[in-house]
Amino acid sequence: MNLKPETTEKIDKLVPRYPTKRSAALPLCHLVQEDQGYLSNEAIEWIAQRLELEPINIQEIVTFYPMLRTEPTGKYHVRVCRTLPCALAGAYQTCHRLEKELNVEVGHTSEDGLVTLEYVECHADCGRAPVVMVGEEEYTDIDPDKAGELAAKMKSGELSDGMPD
Ligand code: FES
Repeated sequence: MNLKPETTEKIDKLVPRYPTKRSAALPLCHLVQEDQGYLSNEAIEWIAQRLELEPINIQEIVTFYPMLRTEPTGKYHVRVCRTLPCALAGAYQTCHRLEKELNVEVGHTSEDGLVTLEYVECHADCGRAPVVMVGEEEYTDIDPDKAGELAAKMKSGELSDGMPD
């Protein structure tokens, strides 16, 4: 698997810090996902081999933690906070509007690969709920109408994908 040299370096430093190789599995999953964008079967097998574990041991971790992905994300990675303050401020309605406008079901990537829509937990900006992240950009006070505007900007390509260059 082709990892960036800096990722390989981080992994080589990280693994010996743990008392058992197994305890390095979750941080390794994060590092590889950060490098590759998601955890493919190849990546899962690579991590298992690196830690002298079975792929099923890594698979269990990947399926347990919702922030670990086994599929590439769309151009726009949209995450709607659904923790109580955002939920009370209408996060579910916001998300339904995004689903409708972007033709994607929450938890999935749209067929055209434009958008991955997910729920996440608190972003620590509850005073400006509902909060929506697009890549690493945060959008606040996103009611359904504003969600419609965000969706239109994604469809037209006008919105930055929020990812660092
Ligand atoms: S509950 Fe959504 S930002 Fe805190």
